[in-house]
Amino acid sequence: MGRVTQTTPDVRSTTIHPADPADAPWWRDAVIYQIYPRSWADSDGDGIGDLPGITARLPYLRDLGVDAVWLSPFYVSPMNDAGYDVADYRDIDPIFGSLADADALIAGAHDLGLKVLVDLVPNHSSSEHEWFRAAVASPPGSPERGRYIFREGRGVDGSQPPNNWPSVFGGAGWTRVTEADGSPGEWYLHLFDSTQPDYEWNNPEIGDEFVSILEFWCDRGVDGFRVDVANALVKEEGLPDFEGPLQAFDATDHNPEAALPPPPEERVDDEESGPRAPMWDQDGVHEIYRRWRTVLEAQPSPERILCAEAWVKPGSRLARYVRPDEMHQAFNFEFLDTHWRAGSLRAVIERSYRDNDAVGAPTTWVLSNHDVVRHASRLGLDQSLPRPNGISADRAQPDADLGLRRARAATMVMLALPGSAYVYQGEELGLPESTEMPHEFRQDPTFHRTEGKEIGRDGCRVPMPWVKDAPSHGFGPSDRTWLPQPDSYGAYAVDQQVGVEGSTLELYRSLLAARREGRLGLGSASWHELSGDEVVALVNSAADGSRRTLALANLGQAPVALPEGARVTHRSGELTPEGLVPTDVAVWAVL
Ligand code: GLC
Ligand code: MG
Repeated sequence: MGRVTQTTPDVRSTTIHPADPADAPWWRDAVIYQIYPRSWADSDGDGIGDLPGITARLPYLRDLGVDAVWLSPFYVSPMNDAGYDVADYRDIDPIFGSLADADALIAGAHDLGLKVLVDLVPNHSSSEHEWFRAAVASPPGSPERGRYIFREGRGVDGSQPPNNWPSVFGGAGWTRVTEADGSPGEWYLHLFDSTQPDYEWNNPEIGDEFVSILEFWCDRGVDGFRVDVANALVKEEGLPDFEGPLQAFDATDHNPEAALPPPPEERVDDEESGPRAPMWDQDGVHEIYRRWRTVLEAQPSPERILCAEAWVKPGSRLARYVRPDEMHQAFNFEFLDTHWRAGSLRAVIERSYRDNDAVGAPTTWVLSNHDVVRHASRLGLDQSLPRPNGISADRAQPDADLGLRRARAATMVMLALPGSAYVYQGEELGLPESTEMPHEFRQDPTFHRTEGKEIGRDGCRVPMPWVKDAPSHGFGPSDRTWLPQPDSYGAYAVDQQVGVEGSTLELYRSLLAARREGRLGLGSASWHELSGDEVVALVNSAADGSRRTLALANLGQAPVALPEGARVTHRSGELTPEGLVPTDVAVWAVL
């Protein structure tokens, strides 16, 4: 038998977050399931997921026990960034279906008691958008150009970009157009791909257009919007040069040799590290969200929400997006990015509550999405290195068993935390990243714009396995899939897990049921005295004192004893024969 970890004298049973009232609005404790429409369910066998495919499988989500779905973009798009390059915000791309299919999806979800969030992409359009086509066809200084960020180049002949901003996907953040007379012309800004020109948000026409788009989708019945790169819309006046890392969803320095930043508890995280980048988190963005909030509040009930995708640090800056008159939720990416270390996790949880409670907002927990290495693989990587932007066969491979074991434990911590939480399709199956995809299949512009230096995000976007022994593992009626499914995926298929005791799917279902039943999302949070350098132990209590749930994860080497009288209700892995919690296992217990 292993040594039992001593509890450290670092005993903090202080409350780190107060309970919400029982009649809190739906979004404060909602669990929201992210569907990446290309990869969830294909109805017509073209190898690309679509809206009728989603509608047909909505009962799966009801049975899983989530409150809402968020759909990544399904709008008309040339698909240079998988639909985050929108050519028409008011119509559905034919590969996904039609507006009638969207209406049927929304109605079908509502019938099952599920709310629907759609993705709003306001920082940039596609270069195929009619406004951008008109801008390129019109002369410098025209109102058409005024909807985007066109500038003259630097240097005598204007052949240098207007400033030194790079694209998040690699390469320059500017592209030069050819004017009508055939001469080399102005440059336009694109923080992402060259087919994603940034809007000029100082132009009131843009603001009015997005209010109209919000109203269009509210009229169709959606319950909210996930707002893409919400921290980018307004740029610093004069577009000054900037020397520094351009942080977006690929939040890390991908040089594998790079030193790991100190764990969060050792950082002074309330201060910004260096000057704020001129393209991110400018104060002017908040005016936009205050306007949107009034637009949503003018809609008929029930309450519709905005969720910010904003890779902003520190947490006190992120909390500004969820002030009472702005957005409702903002993804907690600092939590997602935290390494598997008890001290780091405890520190980020505590700070997140401090920052969000200061503005009265829930904390929005998330471990995976379509932009990052899936957590079942991420947590199986060397935890002393920064998170990589994708994994390929020629790079360090994750330890799949270790990753899944930790992922299940991490999810148990997340779902015990008061606030809202997002679940990314497939994580409920313990699905790993596709780490050996041949390069010829890769579609993420990041891979191509960096000439393969950055692997990019295709590995987390592979179509879902539903049925082990079926073409495309039941993703669709044919064997076509727009990205190849790794051989390992069959074993993770839904039909292999449903009803199987101890499967990851059944673990998620039972956790979500208990979370809903006990209203854990509205509880208070305090540290249990077992918390220490190797243990995260959090007590979630009902406001009226009727229930106390201990969520304990062991991140240390030695097994941990549970407190006297604790009754285990859920566990991510087997306990030792003595009833101790082993390494990388989490439990929920009633106190
Ligand atoms: C967001 C999206 C990402 C997309 C980018 C540009 O970060 O999540 O997938 O590539 O914005 O729209
Ligand atoms: Mg299809």
